Amino acid sequence: MVDPDIAAHYALGFESSRLFIDGRPRLEYIRTLELLDRHLPSPPGRIVDVGGGTGVYAVPLVERGFEVHVIEPIERHVHQVVETARQLNLRGLTAEPGDARDLSGVTEGADAVLLLGPLYHLTESSDRAVALTEALRIVRPGGVVVAVGISRFAYLIDGLKRTILDDPVFRPIVQRDLDSGQHRNPHVQTRPEFFTTAYFHRPEELRDEAFNAGLVDISLFAVEGPSWIVEDPADLDNQLFAARAVESEPALMGATSHLMMIGYRAASD
Ligand SMILES: C[S@@+](CC[C@H](N)C(=O)[O-])C[C@H]1O[C@@H](n2cnc3c(N)ncnc32)[C@H](O)[C@@H]1O
Repeated sequence: MVDPDIAAHYALGFESSRLFIDGRPRLEYIRTLELLDRHLPSPPGRIVDVGGGTGVYAVPLVERGFEVHVIEPIERHVHQVVETARQLNLRGLTAEPGDARDLSGVTEGADAVLLLGPLYHLTESSDRAVALTEALRIVRPGGVVVAVGISRFAYLIDGLKRTILDDPVFRPIVQRDLDSGQHRNPHVQTRPEFFTTAYFHRPEELRDEAFNAGLVDISLFAVEGPSWIVEDPADLDNQLFAARAVESEPALMGATSHLMMIGYRAASD
C-alpha cells in the first residue's frame, strides 16, 4: 500500500498538469522524452510503465507505435489513463492498479520497463531493491529498464531558485534532504509545492542500486542538468543546449533535478 502522505499529495490532482506551463512542455518533459526516444528500442514493442502517473509519457509512446501498460497505485491516475485511452482512441494504452514492489500480475517479457517515479517514492532501500528486481524479472533478456531518481540537492537548488531557503517551513525540509535524502513534507495540504514523502538519491547511489539489482551496461543521465535553475520558456533552446552538453558529466550530475538510469537485462542469464 502506498504511504498515506503520498496518496494525499496525489489526491490534490496536480499530476496531469505539472509538466506543462500554459500548455507548453517543461524542460523535464522534453528531456525525459528525448532520453526515452534515444534509449528505447524501435517500436513496435511492449512497455510496462510502472508508476506511470496519468499517462503523461505513456501517451506519446503509444503514439510512436508501442503498446504501453501503466501500473499505478493511485486509483485516480489509473482512471485518468483509461479515460485518456478512450478519448484519444489509443488501443495500445492500458492501465491497472498495482505497486512496483509486486509485478506478479504483469505479463513477463516486456521490451522495456519504466520506473519514472516509484524509486523516489520508495524511501527504504530494500523496497527500491525489490522494485528494480521486479522490473528486471518482467523485462525480456536484452530489454531495457529506465529508472528515475530525484537528486539529493534538488530542493536546495529549488530553494535558491525560488528564494525561499529562509522560509521556516522549507528550511528544515531541505536540511533533512541534505542530511539523509529522506524528504518529508509535514505541510502537504497547505504547502503542496514542497512535494511529499520521497527519497532523494545521490547519483552514485542510483547507479549502485541498479547494479546490485543485476542490471548491466548501466548509464546515468542528468535529465535537466543545471538548466532547471533558469526554466524560462523564452530561453528554452539555451537550456536544452546546456542540459545536453553535460548530461553525462559526473562533476555536475547532482545539480540536476531528475536523474535517469538506463540499464539492461543481460541477453542471457
Ligand atoms: C511524480 S509521479 C511521476 C509520474 C510519471 N511517471 C512522470 O514521470 O511524470 C510519481 C508516480 O509514482 C507513483 N508511485 C508512488 N509509489 C509507487 C509504488 N510503490 N509503485 C508504483 N508507483 C508508485 C505515484 O502514484 C505517481 O503516479
